[in-house]
Amino acid sequence: MQTQMRNSTSSRREVSRVVRGMPATDGAGVELTRVIAQPALPMLDPFLLLDAFRSDQPGDYIAGFPPHPHRGFETVTYLLAGRMRHRDSAGHEGVIEAGGIQWMTAARGIVHSEMPEQAHGLLEGFQLWVNLPAAHKMDEPAYQEHPAERIPVEQRDGGQLVRVIAGQTSRGTSGPVHQPLTEPLYLDVSLPAGSRFDETLPRAHNAFAYVISGSLVFDDATSPLVRDDLAVLSHGERVEVHAGPEGARFLLVAGRPLNEPVARGGPFVMNTKAEIRQAHEDYAAGRF
Ligand code: CO
Repeated sequence: MQTQMRNSTSSRREVSRVVRGMPATDGAGVELTRVIAQPALPMLDPFLLLDAFRSDQPGDYIAGFPPHPHRGFETVTYLLAGRMRHRDSAGHEGVIEAGGIQWMTAARGIVHSEMPEQAHGLLEGFQLWVNLPAAHKMDEPAYQEHPAERIPVEQRDGGQLVRVIAGQTSRGTSGPVHQPLTEPLYLDVSLPAGSRFDETLPRAHNAFAYVISGSLVFDDATSPLVRDDLAVLSHGERVEVHAGPEGARFLLVAGRPLNEPVARGGPFVMNTKAEIRQAHEDYAAGRF
C-alpha cells in the first residue's frame, strides 16, 4: 500500500513548450509521426523516442519492422487499432491487439521483428522508448504484455475515461505495468466536450501530454493543442486541462529522469560511445 502525501499548496504544472510531431519513415518503410527523437525534442529524460502511427493505407505500414536489435532501454508499444505480431530471437512471440500494451525491457539485448498482422484496415498506435539506468542496461530482457481487458478504465464524474497502463492515478487506479527504475505513469485519457481533467504527478518526474484527437486546453496556454501536438510540462504536481468543443483524447506520460549521459547508436542507447561500439560488435558476432 502506498499513500501519496499531498498538501494544499501543490504547484501546477504548466506548458513549458509545445512540439509538433514530424513525418518520418522507419523500419522497412513505415510512414509514421516522430514526436520525441526529432530536432525539436531529441529526448525528454527518461523518454528517448515517441512515434505515432495511424493509417488505413496498407502501403504505409505493411512492410513493418523486420528483425532488428535493441539494447539498453525499453520499447513500449500501445495499439489503438489493428494487430501487430511480435517475434524475438529468444523464441518469444505474440500478437498485440487493439487496446493492448507491450512493455518490452530490451536491456542487454534482443533481436525482434514487429509486423502488422493485417493486410488492410486501420493501424493506429504508439511506440515509446524508455531509458534504463546504467546499472540495469545489461539486465536480462523481460516483457510485460497486457491485452485491453487487463488495462483498468477509470471513469470520472464528468464522463472522463482514463485507461491506466502504468502507474497509479490520484483516484487510486493502478495500471498493470510496473517499472520501479523510472516509476512511469502512462495514461490514455478521453474527455467529453468541454470537460475538465486534473491529475497529480510525482513532483520531479518529467512529463508530457500528447494529443491523439480533438483539442486540449491548458489553462495557461494561449491556444488549444491538437493532434500531433506534444506539450512538455514544467515540474510541479497538478496537471489541469479541459477539452475543446470536439472533446479530446491524449496520452499523459511521466517518468523519473535518470540524469545520466546518453550515447545513442540507432537501436542501441547506452551511456558511452565505447558501449555503443561494443553493442555493434556483440550484435555482429551473434551475441544477442
Ligand atoms: Co523494435
